[in-house]
Amino acid sequence: MSGAGAAGAGAAASGAAGSGGSRVLRVLVLNGPNLDLLGTREPAIYGRETLDEINAALTARAAELDVLVAFFQSNHEGALIDRLHARDFDAAIVNAAGLTHTSVSLRDALLAIERPFVEVHLSDPATREPFRRVNFLEDIAAARFVGMHARGYTLALEELARRWAAGLIPGRAANLEAEHG
Ligand code: DQA
Repeated sequence: MSGAGAAGAGAAASGAAGSGGSRVLRVLVLNGPNLDLLGTREPAIYGRETLDEINAALTARAAELDVLVAFFQSNHEGALIDRLHARDFDAAIVNAAGLTHTSVSLRDALLAIERPFVEVHLSDPATREPFRRVNFLEDIAAARFVGMHARGYTLALEELARRWAAGLIPGRAANLEAEHG
């Protein structure tokens, strides 16, 4: 699935944002340039799974974890930044692709929105060409899964669900405060 999309945790999805009571974790899965070509793009490096297949697996795992996921992929830096500015999620999974190594603006956006994010890369950029060792996101990521192909996305989702359950994600903490005073 490229562009925008959403998939929910069944009935729990209806009680999502702003319900005031206990609610599900909302995760935005943000994918950057050229990841819409997964499946055919340099499969020896990135694997043969398409982005639609990765997103379908995430949707299934999200339902098991009772997490609401939304998907967004763009080849445009500004579109990715605008999507982050919407702030309609509690945490994000971010594969910024090539922008990881170039974009101060994307880093600034991720800091500005004050939402934790997990950085994912299908490959391990640090073991590839030297220019991929420059990384504008790694020091501000809550966690990272690199070089694990599509599995990294699922691990990122599980990590965010674990943190949410532990009250380590601000949206959850604010929610509990509202419930218990
Ligand atoms: C990537 C790694 C980046 O260096 C590269 O520019 C990509 C994909 C990955 O998932 O392995 O586009 O983010």
